[in-house]
Amino acid sequence: MLAFLRNLFRKSPSQGGVKNDLKLLVADVHSHLVPGVDDGAPDMTSALALISRLHHLGFETLVTTPHIMSDLYPNTPDILQPRFYELKLEVAKRFPSLTFILAAEYFLDTSFIELLENPDKLLTFPCVDPLNGDKHEMLLFEFAFHEAPNDELLTEAIFKMQTSGITPVVAHCARYPYWHMDRSKLESLHSQGVILTVNAATLVGNYGELAKETANHAVDQGWIRMVCSDTHAPHHIVAVKELETSEILAKLIESGRLLNPGVGNR
Ligand SMILES: [Fe+2]
Repeated sequence: MLAFLRNLFRKSPSQGGVKNDLKLLVADVHSHLVPGVDDGAPDMTSALALISRLHHLGFETLVTTPHIMSDLYPNTPDILQPRFYELKLEVAKRFPSLTFILAAEYFLDTSFIELLENPDKLLTFPCVDPLNGDKHEMLLFEFAFHEAPNDELLTEAIFKMQTSGITPVVAHCARYPYWHMDRSKLESLHSQGVILTVNAATLVGNYGELAKETANHAVDQGWIRMVCSDTHAPHHIVAVKELETSEILAKLIESGRLLNPGVGNR
């Protein structure tokens, strides 16, 4: 009986006594909080509840990034901005110290390449790199999960962004199954100046061991510069809370390479 109780309360090696201060992240740069525009918050009440929980975990800046995906979520700045500003008004009343920014999560396809022809109309977010003071205007984009992005399309997208003065940011880079066994593409993106991000849910194992191990490897290689909540629903915020005991996040914080604290600054 005693042995049973001891085993019950024994810390697993992964807990290892790590206690991260989530306030050090300062900013979250990936979430779906604008009501009713994608698979994120369905209404204003849900959006405000999610924002309240993120703020209470210590985030002072939230960049919300609705999907812009030509077939599934054909959002445009004209559709998103009025709904965002309606939400922002309520956020300002309830959480006056919170900085709330609208950007987007663009899906890489030929329509995205067309949007890149008008860089002034893109939903980007600012960031000052805490390491060197470099100023960035960043754009979050993602790929399909079932097949790797077309190389030509990816190269063109990165080229167009970078020549327009935009820093490309890849969403949840450890979640793409086709890169779990071949991580050379992650290294290649990093070496091209593309910012790689990981989701909280990946770091705490919610997308499986392979995704977590890929994230861990990318962190050890110094390829990861941002950690994100990718909040769609309350369970994503549970994953953020679990980051308090994440050894991978502890390594990221210790590296001093996280861009999160510089997000929102110009
Ligand atoms: Fe997302």
